[in-house]
Amino acid sequence: MSSIARTEATGGTLDPEFLAWQTSLPIDRRLLGVDVAGSVAHVEGLVAGGLLTREEGDELQAALSSLPGKVARGDVELPLEEDVHMAVEVWLRATVGELADKLHTGRSRNDQVATDLKLWTREALGQLLEALDRLDARLDAWIERHGETPMPAYTHRQVAIPVLARLWVGAALRAPLARDRHLLGVVEAEIAESPLGAGAIGGNTLPIDPWVAARELGFTSPPTNPIDAVGSRDHALTLAFACARIGQHLGRFCADVVELSSDGLVTLGGAVACGSSMMPHKRNPDLFELVRAQAALRQGELVALMSTFQGLGTGYHRDLQQDKQALFASVDGTLGCLKMVALGLDHLDLLAERCVTALERGDAIATDLTEHLVSQGVPFRVAYRKIGALVASQRAANKRLVELTAADLDAAELPHSLLEQLDVSASARARAARYR
Ligand code: ARG
Repeated sequence: MSSIARTEATGGTLDPEFLAWQTSLPIDRRLLGVDVAGSVAHVEGLVAGGLLTREEGDELQAALSSLPGKVARGDVELPLEEDVHMAVEVWLRATVGELADKLHTGRSRNDQVATDLKLWTREALGQLLEALDRLDARLDAWIERHGETPMPAYTHRQVAIPVLARLWVGAALRAPLARDRHLLGVVEAEIAESPLGAGAIGGNTLPIDPWVAARELGFTSPPTNPIDAVGSRDHALTLAFACARIGQHLGRFCADVVELSSDGLVTLGGAVACGSSMMPHKRNPDLFELVRAQAALRQGELVALMSTFQGLGTGYHRDLQQDKQALFASVDGTLGCLKMVALGLDHLDLLAERCVTALERGDAIATDLTEHLVSQGVPFRVAYRKIGALVASQRAANKRLVELTAADLDAAELPHSLLEQLDVSASARARAARYR
């Protein structure tokens, strides 16, 4: 442990056990790449401001840029410091000597870590959008295979109405994930401004133009308020919320799949179905159950982040260090689930005949029969009661609506034209025709 963030005023040496406990290095080491990028841009600002010569800047930038590769190859072990930012500076001091003492000019770890987190978030957004695109492509393939298959729509977990499968997956995945994509766009807007230049909380008095680093790093502007720049983690909250909502949406789709599978309306390919260690007949939907369960983790991560920030005053507090653990887990977990659902879709088949049987057994045609009577001039509430009575008498005879005969209709004083309305698949197609 070096003493780069210690002065006589700090007092004594840090207890090694405290250092080991408080370090964020095991978690924030994955910021190394963006941390180095931020430092390289900062050096550019120092050169532009005359605080470093071009040669000094080049030497620092070359050393810094070489570090991620060295660490990845195992040639360099990051020193155990409070965090990745200090580890890099300590390594730089040991590598280029005294020149490294100029690196942190006009900068604090507070604006540094805020910058790193935004750069990391930018990469995370790219990965999430890519994963959503890949899932969308698998969804297209699934709709190609099964989209026009009639299946039941459920309310209260009871068979309700015949629909086409494309409407189900559209509701379960496509439409909600498109809205989630929109939320990720909000995150993108919230990471537009560079925190670099805000320093610890009040900027600095040196001739460093913050536009230089901001432009180098692809931000739209330098900080407009240094206190906000170091203390805001709104983008982390929005991202964790987007991940939590993606988790809910994926979980809801998975709940549908588990139920459809238990009802025998879908089958799972062996590539994604798990067995039982005891019961030889099992073919379980574990992939979908595990994704469903992960929605709870995403929600927990969001709550952990919100609770961490709750009650903090403005500006930087060490509490903010805890943001990374929850945010990294949230994004990693979301990426994994998106990938697994895409894989699951490839191995999920809808059983068309079973769907028709479920629709027939569930008397899903009842509403169509009611609407047929309405089209013949019967007031809706009257038609509704007549078909309700018909369902009841069929059920009393242990029969389904689709087994109606002319005699049943005569007994109920209903027109024989209802016999032409019993095709659940035709109903699904007619209803779905309005929703492309
Ligand atoms: N590891 C810290 C974090 O992640 C970096 C900033 C520390 N700043 C400080 N003044 N202690 O938030």
